[in-house]
Amino acid sequence: MSAEVHTVAVIGAGKIGELVLSGLLRSGWPADRLLATARRPARAEELAARYGVRVVDNLTAVDEAEVLAVAVKPQDAAALLDEIGPKVPPGKLLVSLCAGLPSSFFSRRLPEGTPVVRVMTNTPALVDQAMTAISAGAHATGEHLALAEEMFKPLGATIRVPETQQDAVTALSGSGPAYFYLLVEAMTDAGILLGLPRQVAHDLIVQTAIGSAVMLRDSGEHPVKLREAVTSPAGTTISAIRELENHGVRAALLAALEAARDRARELATQAE
Ligand SMILES: NC(=O)c1ccc[n+]([C@@H]2O[C@H](COP(=O)([O-])OP(=O)(O)OC[C@H]3O[C@@H](n4cnc5c(N)ncnc54)[C@H](OP(=O)(O)O)[C@@H]3O)[C@@H](O)[C@H]2O)c1
Repeated sequence: MSAEVHTVAVIGAGKIGELVLSGLLRSGWPADRLLATARRPARAEELAARYGVRVVDNLTAVDEAEVLAVAVKPQDAAALLDEIGPKVPPGKLLVSLCAGLPSSFFSRRLPEGTPVVRVMTNTPALVDQAMTAISAGAHATGEHLALAEEMFKPLGATIRVPETQQDAVTALSGSGPAYFYLLVEAMTDAGILLGLPRQVAHDLIVQTAIGSAVMLRDSGEHPVKLREAVTSPAGTTISAIRELENHGVRAALLAALEAARDRARELATQAE
């Protein structure tokens, strides 16, 4: 299936849809093999001007593309599927990027036998550093998963997970960039509290985040080992860590991710 370049339609090209479009273009996916759809005419014009792809209506996209990448908000998915579901011809692959929605949500609204793949990516796709988790839904074969990987590999790393893990993935890596941005924002404020100019505090913490991330990825060391290497006896770091533990940062993260996972489940219920 992946020997030739397939025509991919990004249906509902908002923030995440645009990341997919721009990533595919950066990776050399031909613009004439990409379609996009949008709800507002102004958005359609913007996408066509920015990326040189054809912006068409949903039914044209369904007709012309081999892969339908659905990137609408979960609460808009039912209305979209009411429109396109019965019109999807046999043999098309539907790739859902929607948080929370199980592949069965789509299968129930598509002709019997339509393969569905569920993915969860994240916004670092913009700099080709996304983390994308890919799961097979009904009727999806290894070839369909490989095709989804071909689409998302240029945007960063990919991993295959069972669909039952996708709500946890959504909580961890889908929303994950927001947690890191919040930490950076809070640490920048802490730098200001200690008397550093805002820009200096920002530059210090951003480079520290990058350095730490590269070490986590490349050193092969467990995070505990890396942290211990910075934590000398009676030193400054352990004083800070005592405060982090006193303020329940670890417990807060456990609770926060559980809340995000629960919200993903709730979105699925509300979308029905
Ligand atoms: N943002 C993230 O970090 C992130 C991460 C992982 C996954 N996701 C998932 O990605 C999906 C999109 O999120 P987003 O943040 O990109 O939302 P978004 O910016 O609102 O994009 C959704 C787009 O779909 C369009 N749309 C809605 N109904 C449509 C229809 N019937 N036909 C054509 N276009 C339609 C919307 O048009 P209008 O502009 O007119 O409303 C909007 O441009 C969500 O399901 C979300 O769960 C998001």
